[in-house]
Amino acid sequence: MKKVAIIGQGYVGLTISAFASKSYQVVGFDNSQKVVDQLNQGMSHIEGVKSADIKSAISAGNYRATANGADIAEADIVVIAVPTPLTKDRKPDMSFIEAACKTIAENIDRPVLVINESTSFPGTVRNFIKPMIEKLSANKFEHQYAISPERVDPGRGDYNQKNTPRLYAGLTKEASEKTREFYSSFCDQLVEVSSPEVAEAAKLFENTFRQVNIALVNEFAQIAHKLSISVNEVLDAANTKPYGFMKFTPSAGVGGHCIPVDPTYLAHVAELLGAPSTFIERANEVNLEMPFYIVDRVEADNGGSLKGKSVLVVGVAYKPNVADVRETPAELVIEELKKAGASVTWSDDLVSSWMGEPSTPLGGADIAVVVTLHAVTDVAAVLKSAPYVFDTTGKIKGAHSL
Ligand SMILES: NC(=O)c1ccc[n+]([C@@H]2O[C@H](COP(=O)([O-])OP(=O)(O)OC[C@H]3O[C@@H](n4cnc5c(N)ncnc54)[C@H](O)[C@@H]3O)[C@@H](O)[C@H]2O)c1
Repeated sequence: MKKVAIIGQGYVGLTISAFASKSYQVVGFDNSQKVVDQLNQGMSHIEGVKSADIKSAISAGNYRATANGADIAEADIVVIAVPTPLTKDRKPDMSFIEAACKTIAENIDRPVLVINESTSFPGTVRNFIKPMIEKLSANKFEHQYAISPERVDPGRGDYNQKNTPRLYAGLTKEASEKTREFYSSFCDQLVEVSSPEVAEAAKLFENTFRQVNIALVNEFAQIAHKLSISVNEVLDAANTKPYGFMKFTPSAGVGGHCIPVDPTYLAHVAELLGAPSTFIERANEVNLEMPFYIVDRVEADNGGSLKGKSVLVVGVAYKPNVADVRETPAELVIEELKKAGASVTWSDDLVSSWMGEPSTPLGGADIAVVVTLHAVTDVAAVLKSAPYVFDTTGKIKGAHSL
């Protein structure tokens, strides 16, 4: 059985590990000892990856987690699935990919196929990962390099690793063929593109498409409010057109690892090449302004001041049905409510503690602001939790909405 090392055992890396361990022997390398210890006890820390699957892969001898780089030495394939966030000055932070390259260079003792799954700008495999590994390696192996951008949407039931078409491209024909062989063990549909840069750019464009359309509908919600019409009714009406329209819904903004971050990787490359990326910048601004707009609306509806009012923020995860709070717009909503003089608590059925505070039960507030609505959340209880409820999701009948 071939051996695969997967660097990074988070949302992406652990998901791939669970699927790949059905046909490969997988070593999941993560530099967090806590994550490694949990995984080796058969406990998944990622929604969508069942602990039972980790346990059965471990007992079949097909999975183990490690924080020791030497344990990846015998891999035939190495998958990179580490974070690609932004630096403080909002530039691509390549330090995690660089560290993964170092782990590969220092520990791999044979020619391997290196596949990048981390989201990054076009040219990352060719101009960053390959030269970095070559520079840091004492032994000069002829590795093969490929990209297969991850498209997983955590919390989604209908599309998963198996039935989501997977893009891929190698730097060489051999790399492409080997990459196809690896993913065909667990993906139904593989789509080869002509170069790694096409695959890298496609991933960024997919998320930029979402970011820009979310910003467009968020801006339109503000126009609809001034027109005294319901934005959601307008969207439902427009959505009756069977072609040329795709419905996006207004919200408190965007969160998570991808939508607020990935478009900036595209903008970075555009800037380096002297190409415009004005939509990305404006979309970022519009989405980041939403928490301010929402607090202004809540304030206006409540006599122009929130001083001394108790406000319950319902749903702090960045999207429904996940416990992920990375880059959540709820943080800015809470910050602005506090700046406006409100005392703020939060409640989330899936997030038990966040920013050093536990989730509070629904009820007992002057005002409730719904940022994220999980399927398990009791809508009737949300409506009863305060005399005034502002719903940014547009899903609660009887609440004030965008
Ligand atoms: N989460 C998603 O839905 C999603 C979807 C598509 C693409 N992506 C992309 O996939 C990549 C990984 O994202 P994620 O959501 O899995 O991140 P994550 O934060 O859930 O997991 C990353 C893991 O990598 C580990 N790690 C960090 N540096 C490491 C290193 N040098 N060596 C070994 N382990 C290291 C961390 O401890 C963590 O467990 C990012 O580029 C992201 O943009 C994520």
